[in-house]
Amino acid sequence: MAQQARKTRRKDRAREAFMLLMLSVVLVFGFGLIVGKQETSNLQQAQAVPKTSAEETTEPEPVTEAVAVNAQPETETTPEFHQATSFRSADPQIYLRVNHTKQLNLLCDPSVNLSEAIYGVSDENIAVVDEFGMITGVSRGECTVSVFCGAETLRIPVTVRELTVRDGCTYVDDILIANKSISLPEDYDPGMLPETAEAFKELQDAAAELGLNIYQGSGYRSYQYQITCYNSLVAAYGEEYANHISAKPGHSEHQTGYTVDCNTINETFINTPEGQWLDKHCHEYGFIIRYPEGKEDITGYDYECWHIRYVGVDVATEIYEQGLTLEEYLDVVSIENEIPPSETEETAPDREIPNGYEENMAYPEETVYSEMPVYPEETIPAEPVYDETQYISTLPAETAAPVQNYQEVIPDDGEEFIDAPLIAP
Ligand code: DAL
Ligand code: ZN
Repeated sequence: MAQQARKTRRKDRAREAFMLLMLSVVLVFGFGLIVGKQETSNLQQAQAVPKTSAEETTEPEPVTEAVAVNAQPETETTPEFHQATSFRSADPQIYLRVNHTKQLNLLCDPSVNLSEAIYGVSDENIAVVDEFGMITGVSRGECTVSVFCGAETLRIPVTVRELTVRDGCTYVDDILIANKSISLPEDYDPGMLPETAEAFKELQDAAAELGLNIYQGSGYRSYQYQITCYNSLVAAYGEEYANHISAKPGHSEHQTGYTVDCNTINETFINTPEGQWLDKHCHEYGFIIRYPEGKEDITGYDYECWHIRYVGVDVATEIYEQGLTLEEYLDVVSIENEIPPSETEETAPDREIPNGYEENMAYPEETVYSEMPVYPEETIPAEPVYDETQYISTLPAETAAPVQNYQEVIPDDGEEFIDAPLIAP
């Protein structure tokens, strides 16, 4: 009996111990679950915090002054160029000179009221912007201009360059410029510059590997030689037309030492494989097509598919990719109306062509013209067209006079331009 009772007590103690063990396991496991759950929920909450604030930042705080936008720091994570969807800039990049002002040209969906736009800049030491979107260059450098309108912000990169005059030559940053408004001194006589010659040789070699023959039709031209070129074209076509195809002495880019006229110096060159290749690839060797088609009102000259200017690969590539002229890139369009008189006097004299040059002087044999090779008809690819119809521009309608059809002023004497005197335009 007593043995039976001991057995029962032992069983009871074992059952109690088992129950205690089970209870401990349940307690430890349950606690772990609760703690784990708590941590997960904390984590979700932590993750939710930046999400909420990010959502809030898509609804920018109302800003009443441009200054307030200026005060917003451009953090490293700010995308360089955020394109708002309901409005955009006609210029993906703004090029400005120091002390020069340019109006932002915004294009917007009709639902957007751009008169409510608020403008700012990332660095007021580089450029400033007023309440109407007029940007002014302050010093050399890069920054972004921001436009806040509706719930969207647009940021546009701005490059500010500096114009300097050294020994009568005009440079924007370090790029020498000669054009209809900006001249070179009569005694500026560098010859063909080595960097131009080397880059042209590389271009020629690359073309030759493709079986293309690119050669120099005209290269460096001195001030004196440009007198001959210009006068001969005036004699052949009259002054008005000559001014569209030839620079006056002191204004020719050939005098900079950075320029080459390729192959047959006339408009048929673009229809050759060489002309097509040059058009698409010369930037890879540091050259630009200096007087592009459709930009005659900016350069002041008719399209010259043969005339290339050395500016270095980086600049040439940017100009090519943005479809610009050198004038637009350096912000020297219409410079004669904008630079101070002292600078104008030095850089852009309206120099008279000296009288007393014999108009029908013998043509020097600087340029060797060759027979034009016969190529199959090439089709020039059509330019991509941006559909602007749904946009409204903030700028007034174009006021510039349309580009003249200069063909009309060519004397109707049955002569084609290619039969003109053998003088490079
Ligand atoms: N044909 C170009 C404009 C020149 O004469 O320099
Ligand atoms: Zn030329």
